[in-house]
Amino acid sequence: MSTKKIETTLIGAGRAKKFTQGSVNSVIQRASSLVFDTVADKQRATAGRADGALFYGRRGTLTHFSLQEAMVELEGGAGCALYPCGAAAVSNAILSFVEAGDHVLISGAVYEPTQDFCTKILSKLNVSTTFFDHSIGAEIAEQVQPNTRVVFLESPASITMEVQDVPAIVAAVRSKAPEAIIMLDNTWAAGVLFRPLDFGVDISIQAGTKYLVGHSDAMIGTAVANARCWAQLRENSYLMGQMVDADTAYVTSRGLRTLAVRLRQHEESALQVAHWLEQRPEVARVNHPALEQCPGHTFWKRDFSGSSGLFSFVLKEKLSPYQLSQYLDNFHHFSMAYSWGGFESLILANQPEELAAIRPVAGVDFTGTLVRLHIGLEHVDDLIDDLAAGFARIKEAGGR
Ligand SMILES: Cc1ncc(COP(=O)(O)O)c(C=O)c1O
Repeated sequence: MSTKKIETTLIGAGRAKKFTQGSVNSVIQRASSLVFDTVADKQRATAGRADGALFYGRRGTLTHFSLQEAMVELEGGAGCALYPCGAAAVSNAILSFVEAGDHVLISGAVYEPTQDFCTKILSKLNVSTTFFDHSIGAEIAEQVQPNTRVVFLESPASITMEVQDVPAIVAAVRSKAPEAIIMLDNTWAAGVLFRPLDFGVDISIQAGTKYLVGHSDAMIGTAVANARCWAQLRENSYLMGQMVDADTAYVTSRGLRTLAVRLRQHEESALQVAHWLEQRPEVARVNHPALEQCPGHTFWKRDFSGSSGLFSFVLKEKLSPYQLSQYLDNFHHFSMAYSWGGFESLILANQPEELAAIRPVAGVDFTGTLVRLHIGLEHVDDLIDDLAAGFARIKEAGGR
């Protein structure tokens, strides 16, 4: 067994000579047309088109092959399909495996557009969806139906951060429906802190837009599949026109080189902020998988090798619209934006009823405003000062 550490893997992955051609990084090969010199060359490319031969731009170029190889080294598995964004990876991975009459079982605490894809698009294809309680373990077996084709997990949960008991879920699904394909949105762990395929998951999906790219300037989706799913995922995604441009594939590969270092800093600063928040009188609870109070913390401790920069906390009070705008409009270092995983710190707030609306099974068990933070690479003291000033603004705006 290899003793190579993840930091080393991330430096070398996808940098074989055939991809770098004498430079340090993979070449950027921008192409729609890939030219064949002879009929024999064309025949060879056609025969090898699913297997790394240069065939047609939509099948990928050296730049894509380099990233795909790197992702397989990172997450294990037999192959990695690339998509123009994370949402495309989620929807096309599911679409690659379902047909009319099938059933999809999905956690009720996954990223909202993933839920919406099931209720708004799969429903039109006569594929039914059942949401299950995110905290479920082996009891998921009771919800598996004879036609359950896909089981979709996301751990930690979107926004509220509960961690799932993935091994128990996988064992229960396998015992009831060995053919079902188990997928997991692994964006939070960036393929580094958790390796779903090692736990029996079939397909690990990432919005590479977040930590893989890491600089908030490109969008990409990845889906790493095990041997039993790879050919079907690859061919069906290809038929649905899924690919990303070579420049984006390149910046994603470049992001991998610094991923371990970035994640370490995100983790350290986020934990510092989380512990600071725990002590604040305004805060009811901090939802961070590495804190004992976080539902599923023991699963995180058992299955993950660390934590990243995204977590949330719940205030004791529900902020009025005026308090909310005084709080959010005036940060110096936290920007308000829908993404995360980049070098910069971000903040978003959700009222409890907004979250309840996207928790179709369990609802929410809190009454205060929830704030989600992505802790970036700024100095943590500056971030804490910024957050402290935010609490002062809430107090000042009280009663209005
Ligand atoms: C957990 C999760 N999965 C998937 C996505 C979708 O990724 P993209 O925005 O690249 O489509 C996001 C985006 O925020 C996300 O947070």
